[in-house]
Amino acid sequence: MPAEILDGKAIAKQIQAETKQKVANFVAAGGPQPKLAAVLVGEDPASQVYVRNKERACKRAGIDSELVRMPGDTTTEQLLEKVNQLNADSAVSGILVQLPLPDQIDARLVLDTVDPNKDVDAFHPHNVGLISQGRHRFLPCTPHGIVQMLKRYNIETTGKNVCVIGRSDIVGKPMAMMLSGYGIGLGGEFANATVTLCHSRTADLPSTVAQADIVVAAIGRPKFVTADMLKPGAVVVDVGINRTDDGLVGDVDFDAAMQVASYVTPVPGGVGPLTVTMLLENTLAAAIQQHDA
Ligand code: GUN
Repeated sequence: MPAEILDGKAIAKQIQAETKQKVANFVAAGGPQPKLAAVLVGEDPASQVYVRNKERACKRAGIDSELVRMPGDTTTEQLLEKVNQLNADSAVSGILVQLPLPDQIDARLVLDTVDPNKDVDAFHPHNVGLISQGRHRFLPCTPHGIVQMLKRYNIETTGKNVCVIGRSDIVGKPMAMMLSGYGIGLGGEFANATVTLCHSRTADLPSTVAQADIVVAAIGRPKFVTADMLKPGAVVVDVGINRTDDGLVGDVDFDAAMQVASYVTPVPGGVGPLTVTMLLENTLAAAIQQHDA
């Protein structure tokens, strides 16, 4: 029997409707309109699409958004000045600096300059530290979207073997922290799994993947995960978005995985819509935290 498709688009729609209601309740109770400021440096086509999707999603949820466009030859100092302006602007609840940034910019310094209270990507080291200790201020959007999807499909994580492939700061590392975390009293976002974090130097990746009940592929290599690597009945979450001659392709060989796995996320329409969705949740959370402070 082929696997069931994990419909990220449908889950995103459900969560966005909930966020919209929460925003309306917050504003009706006298809270300020939550507002996201997104900073886009340069003309990277994929980034333009992502930022446009974020703006549209904000509008649907009743969240204000401002797109700050800066030219591709912007200097680090100019970008820092803009970030500091947004930090000081009390109407801005959340700040997102779209990655990747052009090479001349010190991206680390820029991300470290975003006020941790407005850091809706959860990239600031202060926020990363809080996540590692299970007392998060914000959860990073893509890993949080994945946990939400697993929860809403009633996929058990406690005691399961999870293989995360890819150790990026944006997905792999926070995903491993959240899935291995102690899941009581944290709203179920920390999942009590036994996690193996694999990467390019992992000695025998196929044998590690073969033991996993849940595989999260986030390495940016088209169709890297093949059916022969997977344990029959595994849950396969594909974070990859690779632009190839055949169009958009994930990190998993989707057709092959469908024959072996129990659940598979498609690309597109799997994890992607959830990333934007959890950004809205974080922007609302930021507005609430600032209002309560
Ligand atoms: N570029 C690709 N993914 C992301 C993300 O989650 N946040 C930001 N700021 N930039 C990205």
